[in-house]
Amino acid sequence: MGHGSGAGTDRFSMAAGAERVGTERGGVSAFDFFDAGELPAPNLAAAEVTAIVREHWGLDVELVPLGSQQDQNFLARAAGEAVVGVVKITNPAFTATELAAQEAAASRIAASAPDLRIATTTTDAAGTPRSSVAATSEGQLSIRLIEYLHGGTLTGDSYLSPKVVARMGELAARASLALADFDHPGLDRVLQWDPRFADRVVGLLADHHPDRAKRARVTDAAAAAWAELDVVAGELPMQAVHLDLTDDNVVCSTEHGVRVPDGMIDFGDVTRTWAVAELAITISSVLHHTGAEPVSVLPAVRAFHALRPLSPAEVAAIWPLVVLRAAVLVVSGEHQVQLDGGDNAYAASGIEREWRVFQQAVSVPSRVMSGVIAAALQPAPVTAAVAGPSDGNRTGLLATRLDAGRIARLDVSITSDDVDAGAWLVADLEDHLARRELDHGAAAAMLPWRTPRLTAADIHSPASSPTVPTGVDVWFGEPQPLTSPGAGAVAAAGDGHLAVVLDDGLRLDVEGGVEGPPAMGTRLAAGDALGVAASGSRIRMRLQRADVPPMPHLVRPEYAPGWLVLAGDPAPLLGLPAEDGLEASAADAAPAADAARLIERRARAFAEVQEHYFEAPPRIERGWRQHLIGTDGRVYLDMVNNVTPLGHGHPGVADAVARQLRRLNTNSRFNYGAVVDFSERLAATLPEPLDTVFLVNSGSEAVDLALRVAFAATGRRDVVAILEAYHGWTYASDAVSTSVADNPDALATRPDWVHAVDAPNPFRGRYRGTDAARYAPDAAARIAELAAQGRPPAAFIAETFFGNAGGIPLPDGYLAEVYAAVRTTGGLAIADEVQAGYGRLGHWFWGFEQQGVVPDIVAVAKAAGNGHPLGAVITTREIATRFRSQGYFFSSTGGSPASSVAGVAVLDAFRDERLQENAAEVGGYLEARLETLATRHPLIGAVHGLGLYLGVEFVRDRATLEPATEETAAICDRLLELGIVMQPTGDHQNVLKVKPPLCIDRPSADFFVDMLDRVLAEGW
Ligand SMILES: Cc1ncc(COP(=O)(O)O)c(C=O)c1O
Repeated sequence: MGHGSGAGTDRFSMAAGAERVGTERGGVSAFDFFDAGELPAPNLAAAEVTAIVREHWGLDVELVPLGSQQDQNFLARAAGEAVVGVVKITNPAFTATELAAQEAAASRIAASAPDLRIATTTTDAAGTPRSSVAATSEGQLSIRLIEYLHGGTLTGDSYLSPKVVARMGELAARASLALADFDHPGLDRVLQWDPRFADRVVGLLADHHPDRAKRARVTDAAAAAWAELDVVAGELPMQAVHLDLTDDNVVCSTEHGVRVPDGMIDFGDVTRTWAVAELAITISSVLHHTGAEPVSVLPAVRAFHALRPLSPAEVAAIWPLVVLRAAVLVVSGEHQVQLDGGDNAYAASGIEREWRVFQQAVSVPSRVMSGVIAAALQPAPVTAAVAGPSDGNRTGLLATRLDAGRIARLDVSITSDDVDAGAWLVADLEDHLARRELDHGAAAAMLPWRTPRLTAADIHSPASSPTVPTGVDVWFGEPQPLTSPGAGAVAAAGDGHLAVVLDDGLRLDVEGGVEGPPAMGTRLAAGDALGVAASGSRIRMRLQRADVPPMPHLVRPEYAPGWLVLAGDPAPLLGLPAEDGLEASAADAAPAADAARLIERRARAFAEVQEHYFEAPPRIERGWRQHLIGTDGRVYLDMVNNVTPLGHGHPGVADAVARQLRRLNTNSRFNYGAVVDFSERLAATLPEPLDTVFLVNSGSEAVDLALRVAFAATGRRDVVAILEAYHGWTYASDAVSTSVADNPDALATRPDWVHAVDAPNPFRGRYRGTDAARYAPDAAARIAELAAQGRPPAAFIAETFFGNAGGIPLPDGYLAEVYAAVRTTGGLAIADEVQAGYGRLGHWFWGFEQQGVVPDIVAVAKAAGNGHPLGAVITTREIATRFRSQGYFFSSTGGSPASSVAGVAVLDAFRDERLQENAAEVGGYLEARLETLATRHPLIGAVHGLGLYLGVEFVRDRATLEPATEETAAICDRLLELGIVMQPTGDHQNVLKVKPPLCIDRPSADFFVDMLDRVLAEGW
């Protein structure tokens, strides 16, 4: 092995050839697992150990047993108080030289990584390590007092976030770098955990596995992984490694409620082996955690590679090593349980999770995972590893070449213009499109390989769906006789399926309509008949390397790069050129890398202050109703999008705007009908005397204009606004924005004409619960005070429902009292309805209706155009007329024909699709379900809001209301992984902004609540 020998003939030579191991240095034989025989852990009574600690170190301690598979460990406390350390009684099978190597390795890492916490052996006042060889009831045993690191390990943490996984990879790399040139005689040992011996360990221990079927799976998988490792073993660098940097052996610090590993314990397995084993062992331990699957380890691999670059051979070795690690864990765990006669609860509890590690490790073929890892480290365009032959009139597969011009290429990609926005919900869309082409005279219709498909995704799925085809789908107009593209043999035939393995190492699968194929095993020459492909029905064709397992036709996008490097485009077999636009579709095939490249381009083209959702956002290029679709075909439930109340891709708005753009789009000084229609329709939604409309393009412009109208109408310059509010980015709308989440310096930098009053937040503001009634008198008093100081305000501006703080209703009567106060002094009441308006509250179309008031000026945007730029200010004729003093008002595209028809289409949809009623109905249902969650998850401090303007506020403590800011960010990240777009809001960024499109239905509301429940239960 490793030297050209076949697998199984001399399985141990890979290790033996590498380095001398298990030999004697200094006369004492180092540990050799294969010679050691049974290895029961020491089992001293706690009282005996207490006595030894007292005798040897003069310390009085209380001991709590800790788990260990081969040693015996106790947590030592100084008589009921602080933890003194961990008493470690090493298995007598290990020599003093080995223990010295472990201590030296720990010191090495501690010295090279002072920012990490490393559990080294404690020393006494004289600096002597607290270790001793004591005579015990079980003979001479080495006993050490090792530093105890606080914070706990990752054991039992059910979900590991990508950040935590990345930190594990980083710790493994730091250890690897620190030990790169470390040498010690105690490193030469033969450990059960050293992957160089994995094959032997599995061979030796597998028989102890009580389950015959599982045993076979483990031994088969180990043999296959061993054979794959053999190919690169000779190129793997060796060095000293910790060899056990798993979830059990990294210790965490908790920063703001989020645990991050920053320490290492247990150096008992330090040895010299392949350097890459360090990483493989670390990532294996991720696999049993809740929700983890093979791609979950990629953050660790990336983090490791960034610090300690992996060679191509090491990359190829990682997954076989993971499989071997899993196999060794499974057989060793079963063996240890038997050795200890069921006494070792630690080993017994591990059995289940070790099996989970194994199941995940083998859930994807190793070769595929190697491709996935390679792509994650070096995202290169996916290129075909194989290509199909073609000659003369024969195309390779078709006995008669079809006219390439008559082969219709179907497009069901995420950015396809051939299908309507909602077409992905149509089950037989692809067949339908193909039949349409055949009916129009096409000889065949074909869907390309590799491009993620719109039609394959589940709407409500916590994982991505298989959307990436590994081959093509073809529909023929006429039955097509098939011929073998080369010499080979039939590998499968029957049920319409034909597989041919060609002598050049390729496998061709034709599935779903091959009649009269040659019998299984038939030898074929190029051009030999292969039966006839039926006409009119879908036929799937794949071309792949024959030395990997037969591929599924559709694979999940995260794994696609791994599958596709083992496959080729079958289109040339049909006489077509390999796919056009290789680069573009290659990007589609590795959408994660494409999304990352796009965000880099965005960063270069955009100013840094223009933030985006999520650190590593998916590339979203399509939406339909309450869903968004990534370029990889992944579907996300959009729970934040208050700009699109009608939902995404609304055909009514799209058609109206498209029609209008073709007919006329110009500035609003022309005389055209749409602007009048929309203005009349909008004014009709508002109570008297609000009848005069200004049209602009955004909420900021609407607020800015509302303020200018108030300034002009009153001849004043001061404005009263409320804290924790956001009103826009223009000069004036920004001036009245006080939210420190949007601008950390907001409070210190408001101009002197802005006067902020308390945010009337009854949950966490100055006045809470029934005391919240005091906010309005305070605000009124402030207005009176300003008037008394000779600065009566031009206006009081507020959102009519406290959106920015997480959908909190204003206290009853708040606006009535404050509006009255400002009007008493001759000022105006401005309602910012940019978020709260347009039916989101369900029971009212406008937020001010909930407060039983009528403002003087209303600012509207967002919902008004369903994403198309459209804002409005609506006021009374009298106030509008007074704005004349400022000259004329003109916004080129405010109320343009296209914007106006969009506005009308939105109002039509509100009426026809009963969106406001839906907001009340589904919103009520959603709120009730969220309230139920709050009874089970203490992190939920409150569920705020009404209709579909809701907020879920997270607190660390329900009494102090300490905001759970970091937790909220992490929960949003985890929700994205589960297919939900959610963002935090509020000054503390601790409130989930629950503002989905108003067309959301109950199943989507359920999906959101179920996923939130899962995250709160499993962790983030
Ligand atoms: C309450 C409120 N007012 C005004 C604005 C500004 O609107 P726009 O982003 O359309 O300029 C926003 C935007 O988030 C808002 O939430």
